[in-house]
Amino acid sequence: MTSVIIAGVGSYAPQRILTNEDLTKIVDTSDEWIRSRSGIRERHIAAADEATSDLAIKAAQSALLDAKITAADIDLLIVATCTPDYPVPSTACVVQHKIGIPPHATCFDISAACTGFLYAMEIAYGQLLTGRYKCALIIGAEKLSSIVDWKDRTTCVLFGDGAGAAVLKKVNQPGVGIIGSDLGADGELLELLYIPAGGSRCPASPLTLEAGSHFLHMKGKEVFKNAIKVMETVAREMVEQHHLTFDQISLVIPHQANYRIIEALASNLGVPLDRFYVNLDRYGNTSAASIPLALDEARRAGRIKPGDYTLLVAFGAGLTYGSTLIRW
Ligand code: UT7
Repeated sequence: MTSVIIAGVGSYAPQRILTNEDLTKIVDTSDEWIRSRSGIRERHIAAADEATSDLAIKAAQSALLDAKITAADIDLLIVATCTPDYPVPSTACVVQHKIGIPPHATCFDISAACTGFLYAMEIAYGQLLTGRYKCALIIGAEKLSSIVDWKDRTTCVLFGDGAGAAVLKKVNQPGVGIIGSDLGADGELLELLYIPAGGSRCPASPLTLEAGSHFLHMKGKEVFKNAIKVMETVAREMVEQHHLTFDQISLVIPHQANYRIIEALASNLGVPLDRFYVNLDRYGNTSAASIPLALDEARRAGRIKPGDYTLLVAFGAGLTYGSTLIRW
């Protein structure tokens, strides 16, 4: 019996920290409003010359080191991002070249917003089990500061930049690693969180630029309500499908969007909040990077031990959502 395990994790956040106090100088907001409505205190912001791939590479290098392998061992690279370096080609190709992953590797990006890392994990899991690939590197990386409207206080205070990565490989041991995954999407709700212009439906023009249509647009309240509902459903289903109870889940790592969403999820599931890993106070919402960043921190902080069950649960633009159960 074979399993796919997480052999190493890593993360990176840019050096510059933007506090809530700093934001009060940019938009009409307050530290009190941001903290009480979202739980965020500060976020990391990439430098002007730092692109998503630069963050991805640092996280990837740290994950490779953790897994005690080199880039030459990777034959599958998936980058989950909604802020690629270029519209064409994929950020994965930039990472592949700069990090030294051999040219025969399969390298591509996926677009599943904040659920992207879980989607990447599911794809890599399936591909490794086929036996066609030996070792996968999956990365969630974002420079969200490049797509938020810094004049829009309803969105710019929520997001940050960062990256997280994991090395996945197949082992001949049953019942460890990725135990299950339940992913979904509801495209009917896409206009709750999207960038209206810059794609084929509405190509870039002076008019779209003037209208600010290249920035992230969000109906926060609706996203909030949907997030709690879908995360509760997929978290419950994943645990029940595997005949477990939440008492057996040592740590839940939710997408880091809003502390109030995490609180509501914990309360609905009847799981104490101290079994949820939370770092959004220091990073804000980093979309596809949020779960691997939290996973890396949690592991390095000793919150994950051999034999533990960890539940990853996410939602994001699409609306996409999903949960992944891991046994260490
Ligand atoms: O990865 C998925 C990404 N998205 C999310 O997870 C977002 C989910 N939604 C949320 O986190 C919350 O809905 C927000 C944090 C975005 C907003 O919280 P809320 O409690 O739903 O606030 P609201 O949108 O109802 O706004 C309340 C008030 C409004 O003023 P009025 O109309 O009541 O006078 C806003 O204009 O707060 C105002 N407001 C602000 N005030 C100070 C909105 N943004 C700000 C701000 N500073 N930054």
